[in-house]
This record gives sequence, structure tokens and C-alpha cells, in this order.
Amino acid sequence: MTRIRVGVVGLGLITQGVHLPNLETLRADFDVTHVCDASASLAQAVADRLPGDVAASTDWGAVVADPRVDAVMILTPGSHGETAAAALRAGTHVFSEKPLAHSRAEIAELISLAREHSLVLQVGTMKAHDDIIEPARQAIGRIGSVRVVRVTVLHPTDECQFEHVDLILAASPDAEVVRAGREYTESRNDEAMGDSALGVRLLYADVLLGSVIHEMALLRALGLGLPQSWDFVSVDPMLTDNQAPEPPRIMAIGQLPGGAQLQLSWNWVPDYPEYDEEVKVIGSAGRVTLTMPGPYLADHRAHLTVETSSGDTRHRDEITSGHTTAFVRELQAFAASVRHGAPVLCTAQGALEDVACLQRLAAQAGRQAGLRVGGEAA
Ligand SMILES: NC(=O)c1ccc[n+]([C@@H]2O[C@H](COP(=O)([O-])OP(=O)(O)OC[C@H]3O[C@@H](n4cnc5c(N)ncnc54)[C@H](O)[C@@H]3O)[C@@H](O)[C@H]2O)c1
Repeated sequence: MTRIRVGVVGLGLITQGVHLPNLETLRADFDVTHVCDASASLAQAVADRLPGDVAASTDWGAVVADPRVDAVMILTPGSHGETAAAALRAGTHVFSEKPLAHSRAEIAELISLAREHSLVLQVGTMKAHDDIIEPARQAIGRIGSVRVVRVTVLHPTDECQFEHVDLILAASPDAEVVRAGREYTESRNDEAMGDSALGVRLLYADVLLGSVIHEMALLRALGLGLPQSWDFVSVDPMLTDNQAPEPPRIMAIGQLPGGAQLQLSWNWVPDYPEYDEEVKVIGSAGRVTLTMPGPYLADHRAHLTVETSSGDTRHRDEITSGHTTAFVRELQAFAASVRHGAPVLCTAQGALEDVACLQRLAAQAGRQAGLRVGGEAA
């Protein structure tokens, strides 16, 4: 395989703002041959801007069936399970944005399909690919027994983080395509959350799978693992309908596998347009602080501070990640897996653990608020 021929499904914010420019940067590895969006005019406009002979369609089935496609990038909203399963069955490799899928049953099926067909299935939890992760992992091993892990996320709107992108809007999307996608996602939400109260379903599908899933993947990448149970979850205010003006604040406390306490605080801050994430790992003999600003700009680089001591002296090391963004690195890793069989870092198995952990979080939030919890989450 010279260049990997890619079909791109879903051409919205993340595709135009991040993945298409990165595919262009990595044109020695990738050749986009087919683009697809529910909006025919958007698909055609994107195809026209790309070099070479690029097909445009509104039906992802046409991308999956295209003999000029070796790998499909699934970048639509909602669950990616149906498209991913069809792509794997058709013999194409899959890169799926997070969340890979909404139910554990779906992900389990994708894991066996990828195995059965010997295909790459990579999930877009890109933070795990940041080059700061390896030094952070090593530093965590040097600070004694880990007592507390504090994760704080300040999340502005996606739109303000993409102010720099001259976005082509999805005009007149095909209503049937959008309806079919929504119905599929809803059916998988039913599987995950069953007859849970609406607030619990919205918390899970919109906030936990929409954003907090990144923190799960990050904790695993740092070697800290995921809490098997949540002791306390505060969701303020608990959502009561799908018209809520903004997502709630979340504070969740759980026990990590090594016995450390996880304190997770996720906050929506729409009026200050800088995403900010801090992971502070507090050990018996030192501290590691990882800051990850908004991931969409190349000059927003992750930063690591490691504080340790020996005898009477204190040591403070500072490390900043390089210029190659986590988003570029995840595509480089995808190319290496497709071409040379390099092991996948962000696996479907990892996504399954993340989804299971978030289902437990949603269930705990529901129970504490006296709300019904059903489906896999129960
Ligand atoms: N890794 C990250 O940090 C990150 C950041 C933002 C979004 N995402 C993920 O990327 C995905 C897309 O997010 P976005 O913000 O770009 O969404 P978006 O709403 O901006 O764009 C989605 C596009 O998909 C199209 N679409 C919808 N249903 C479709 C279907 N069934 N078939 C074909 N096209 C369809 C829409 O017309 C739209 O153009 C989501 O899964 C989201 O979770 C990841």
C-alpha cells in the first residue's frame, strides 16, 4: 500500500478544523478519495477543495462500499457503531472519533469484528497520543504511592474554540440520513440506559460520552486506571429535559485501582474561550501536574511539572510537549497500524472500559438524585 486511501464520513467542525488539515499535512501517508456528509452541498464543497479525484456522497454506505477506500474515518455525531461495523465487514480499516459507540454491546461486537477481519480499529481519544504522556507516566512512577488524583476540566463552547476555522456550513442536510443516524443512536442509548430517567440518559449521552470520556482515556493512558466504583457524584443541576441551556457541573469521587482517590471536576465555562485541563497526581513523595490547554491549536501545548525531593533538596522539572499535536500523532499512529501492523494505542477494548466506567458514573448520579436507572448502566 503506497498511500492509505481514506473515506471521510461527517464533515463538520472537527473534520474541517482538525482532521482534513492534518490529513493534508500527512499526505505522504493518506490520500482522501471519498467524502460524505448528510449535506450534499457540504460534501461537494469539501471534495472540490481537495486535490485529486474525490467522490462526494450523502450515504456512508457508498463510502464503505467504495473499492477506492482502504480506511474509513467516522466523524459524525452520535454512535459510530453502525458505520464502523459496516466498514469492518466490508474489509476497511476504521478510525472513529470518540465515542466509538454508546452501548457496551455495540463495542463488544466491534471488537470481535475487527479481530475476525484482522483490521485496525482506532478510537479518536487523541490525548493519549500527546508526547507528554510518556514522561508523565514515568514521573508518576517516581512520586511514591499515589494518594490523590485531581482532574479539573474547564470547557468552553466548541464553536469559540474553532473561531480560527473558515467553516463551510452543512446546508440542507438530507433529513432521512440525519433521522436514520439519530434513530440508530437512540436505539443504542436504549440498550445502554434502558428506562433510566431522562436526566440520567442526557447526562450519559451528551456530557459523559460527549466530553468526560476524554478524561477516562487520559487516566488509562497515564497508567492510573479507572475507578471500579464511584463513591459520590454531584451533578448540578441534574438535567430534567433536553432543552437545558447548558450542561451541568459534575464532581465525582472514585477509588482508582491502586487505592488512590480520584476527584473529577468537569465544568462548563462558556464565556471564557480557553479550554483548560489539569491533572494533578499527588504521591507520598512528590507531585506531578499535567496541564492540557485547548487541543485544536498547534501552539497550545501540554505542560508537565514534576516535583520530587531527595534529602533536604527539592527538585522541580518542567517538560513541554513538542510541536506535533496529539491529533497529528494519532493519525501517524493510525497509518503505522494500517501499514505495518503497529499496535493500536487507543483501542476499542479501552473504549469499552471507558464506556462501562461512565455508565457506572451515570448510574451513581441517578441513584443519588433518586432517579430511575436502567439498561446496561443498571
Ligand atoms: N477528539 C475531540 O477532541 C473531538 C472534538 C470535537 C468533536 N469530536 C467528535 O467528532 C464527531 C463530530 O463532531 P463535530 O463537532 O465535528 O460535529 P458537527 O455537528 O460539527 O458535524 C457533524 C457533521 O456530520 C454530518 N452528519 C450528521 N449525521 C450524518 C450521517 N448520518 N451521515 C453523514 N453525515 C452526517 C452533519 O451534517 C455535520 O456536517 C463527534 O463524534 C464528536 O464527539 C471529537
